[in-house]
Amino acid sequence: MPKFLITTAIDYPSGKPHMGHAYEKICTDVIARYKRLKGFDVHFSTGTDEHGMKIQRCAEKEKKSPKQYVDDMVKYFRELCDVLNISYDDFIRTTEPRHVKTAQEIFSIINKKGEIYKGTYEGLYCVDCETYYTEKDLSDGKCPVHGKEPDSVSEESYFFQMGKYREALTKHIEKNHDFIRPESKRKEILNRLQIPLKDLSVSRTSFNWGVPVPIDKKHVQYVWMDALINYLSTIGWPRGKSKEFWPTAVHIIGKDIVWHHTVIWGSILLAAGIAPPKTVFVHGFVNIKGEKISKSKGTPVDPIELADKYGADPLRYFLISEIPFGEDGDFTVESLVTRNNDELLNNLGNLANRILTFIYNKNGGKVTKPGTLDKLDKQLIESTRKYSRSVSEKMDRFDLQSALDEVMYLAKEGNEYFQQKEPWKKDYSNCLYVGANLLRTLAIMLSPFIPESAEKIWEYLNLPGSVHKQKWDSAADLAVKPNHKIKEPAPIFKKF
Ligand code: ME8
Ligand code: MG
Repeated sequence: MPKFLITTAIDYPSGKPHMGHAYEKICTDVIARYKRLKGFDVHFSTGTDEHGMKIQRCAEKEKKSPKQYVDDMVKYFRELCDVLNISYDDFIRTTEPRHVKTAQEIFSIINKKGEIYKGTYEGLYCVDCETYYTEKDLSDGKCPVHGKEPDSVSEESYFFQMGKYREALTKHIEKNHDFIRPESKRKEILNRLQIPLKDLSVSRTSFNWGVPVPIDKKHVQYVWMDALINYLSTIGWPRGKSKEFWPTAVHIIGKDIVWHHTVIWGSILLAAGIAPPKTVFVHGFVNIKGEKISKSKGTPVDPIELADKYGADPLRYFLISEIPFGEDGDFTVESLVTRNNDELLNNLGNLANRILTFIYNKNGGKVTKPGTLDKLDKQLIESTRKYSRSVSEKMDRFDLQSALDEVMYLAKEGNEYFQQKEPWKKDYSNCLYVGANLLRTLAIMLSPFIPESAEKIWEYLNLPGSVHKQKWDSAADLAVKPNHKIKEPAPIFKKF
């Protein structure tokens, strides 16, 4: 089986999860579920980034030990995954021994290669980003991401000779167009690599909530020198199947941490003699009416509450259909409601309802035996085949929004077909047969996006197994046979 490794960033549990976290997990989950339907052995990992000064300070504020603090917070991140139906294979926490071991191993390998030296770090540090800045990185003296003044720090530190990887990284980015996507981000990083690259401070001494530096226990590893390595820990690198998974790695991350995932991570890996990941795909930010949502700026919209109130599928559907993958977008409850009512309920729900209730009420719950197929029947069957191929091409490019758009367009064609066929007036045998098969195809193609609703369609169709265990490449087969008995249907979506 071909392998596929896909990861989200690991979240800072310095507050409850927000809509940005939900969005990233949903997009990644859609791709992971799609890849499984395409026959890949998928390893999908997500998790939490639990060390560093930011977490230590949050714990102090709540008068808890850092460990107690993260143990309490991580529950919300797992709950987020559960309520959103995130099909992760691994939830990794950077405080787990398996990760600490790998993080130290990578540090030691780089050190043995002579890439680490001791010095003093003097400069600026934004604790919210856990990132070092120079004066010219700031806007009006403030961190460009959080708008806060960074701390001035001066402390003994180990440095990684990142600067010398500028050329090798540039070459790697030039040669591998898939390494940084979308293209605008690739260009941005290539531009930033035109000026000399500084060495990176990879340890801290002013606090102790971190992975101990293996060669000097006074130091803890810089939190990014710890967190990024989770992508190797999750596959048990260098053991087992990790060598097969690693070359397929796709990291899905937000636009504020592109530098960390391409330049810092890329050079750490090159120094350790490991190839950089195949793709770092950068998604945009979810804004609330143009305002950035983040816990440190204090404008959260709780995705757990939203999923409880509206259901995971309407929220998943809204985020994927509203926001072009790779660009920013707005979250508003009004547009979530509109998309649910106009698209899920009135288009897809209506189609499923029409076909299933017709079969159930008018044909004793049995799929009809078709006669000779006419032009309309053949057209719809052909469309279904065509869309299963073109949607797949879009999914392969991670063009999630257009892929979903196209599946919903097929549902619309289905409604038009039903309207034109007028099965309530004429012979309905072809219409119900073609319709039941269309629903099956739609259930498979929608299962990565709206997993619960797709499974419901599958259940009402009374098909064997789970929709999530099907093969995408046979989604458009006419697999629902005449006389097949369906179950009593019920509405799949709700009106809000
Ligand atoms: O950066 N919209 O964690 P984090 C979309 N621990 N995505 C958003 C977002 C928004 N409004 N706000 C944040 C960290 N994100 C590090 C990562 S990985 C080795 C370490 C995204 O909790 C953000 O871009 O601040 C990142 O990809 C993820 O959420 C976690 O952000
Ligand atoms: Mg952040």
